[in-house]
Amino acid sequence: MRLEYPHRFERFGAVRIHALQQVIELDSGADEEAPATTVQGRMVQHVSARSLSDVEKRMAIVVPCKDERRKVIEGVLSGIPHDCLIILVSNSVREPVDRYDMECRTVEHFCHLAERSAVAIHQRDPGLAEAFRLAGYTEILDDEGLVRNGKGEGMLVGLLLASLAGRDYVGFIDADNYVPGAVHEYAKAYAAALHLAESPYAMVRISWMSKPKIQDGRLFFNRWGRTSQVTNQFLNLLIAEYSGFGTDIIATGNAGEHAVSMELGLRMRIAGGFAVEPFEYLDLFEQFGGVIPSPHPEVLKHTVDVYQVETRNPHFHENKGHGHVQEMRLQALNVLYHSPICLDPVREEIRTFLTEQGVIGPGEEPPAEHVYPPLLDLDRSRFLAALVEHSESFVQIRRHRIADIVVEEPILLNSPIDVDDVLDLNGMEEDLADDLTESDADA
Ligand code: GDD
Repeated sequence: MRLEYPHRFERFGAVRIHALQQVIELDSGADEEAPATTVQGRMVQHVSARSLSDVEKRMAIVVPCKDERRKVIEGVLSGIPHDCLIILVSNSVREPVDRYDMECRTVEHFCHLAERSAVAIHQRDPGLAEAFRLAGYTEILDDEGLVRNGKGEGMLVGLLLASLAGRDYVGFIDADNYVPGAVHEYAKAYAAALHLAESPYAMVRISWMSKPKIQDGRLFFNRWGRTSQVTNQFLNLLIAEYSGFGTDIIATGNAGEHAVSMELGLRMRIAGGFAVEPFEYLDLFEQFGGVIPSPHPEVLKHTVDVYQVETRNPHFHENKGHGHVQEMRLQALNVLYHSPICLDPVREEIRTFLTEQGVIGPGEEPPAEHVYPPLLDLDRSRFLAALVEHSESFVQIRRHRIADIVVEEPILLNSPIDVDDVLDLNGMEEDLADDLTESDADA
């Protein structure tokens, strides 16, 4: 892959936000890595196939999923590079039709054909909640004692599973993406930027070049989503209020597609629902921005690098309507408003914006969102033991070869591997073939 060099950055304490860098070439050939070169005034970085592969082998891709169509999920899986571990975290309905069961079978079938491993779990599994409770991480539980609903909560579960699987990087890709090629490009861009990262504390965020829509009978390639525009504007305003200089550096405030090094991910607090992505910026500013004391002084000796990559594929996903966009916008602004580092002029602008939008009444404050503590201090071995004991939805799919079976669990458990389970996969092919040729009424 060839990427434009990010020629500009803004600093917020130890956090360095690099300007948007374009993907120049998706596949840059078999040549070994070469130093960055300047072509027509643009500096270009080349990341070799081998370097991409080195990162992919150490990366998990978490796919948060809530009631998405089976064929779309299948397409997403097909786009995730072979060496990345797939982690599906589902919050799909289980009655009257158990969509999670259908999703697991889709993942199993795919892994069987592609000879790869995966992990899947249902977010509302009481056994998962019990594992969090026993590990002392009760903040994530709701009044029913289950893991809260929400995309951020699903991502948190995925991040934890990725760390249990020993992966050094974790990327997130939504399950409702119609373009497998886009999924593939996102994962490659994660690998390229993480390979080039100068700090062990690194994050990559995707800004797609276009989001096509049918408008007046023709395809119109929108540059920015309706939520991103607003979130970026306010995050940039926050930086400008601190620095005294206007900026447009943040182009990925809402980036659902992003990846992080485990070193950084485990130290970050995670917000619930759709506040999750904008809050990542705020959390970095709060923890490493130097405005308030940092709980991780070891990180401050380095920089925390945020790369923003502009990808080439169009971003085609399920359109969930205006109300959904409004909800996402609101959640983004809520976390900014309530951040201890938010300055009064920014709070005032947010209040004015939300009042004009009719979201809050005059003089009202926006509601606060859930923010969960870093996973670094969670007792992981306790969590895993409890998960294995109590969860009914936790599934591990082992890499499988047709000729010689490779017994390889993504998350190593203390208990010996049940070889019969692995052998069962052989008989599963027929079952799955039947399932997957059923009518698409439930898809
Ligand atoms: N596990 C889990 N739990 N997954 C969820 C949940 C949940 O409670 N809610 C939604 N998801 C999954 C969806 O199935 C989808 O795969 C992904 O999370 C994104 O949710 P959508 O509802 O489809 O959001 P969107 O596509 O409108 O917005 C996306 O893009 C925004 C930027 O434009 C999201 O990624 C946002 O987070 C992002 O800000």
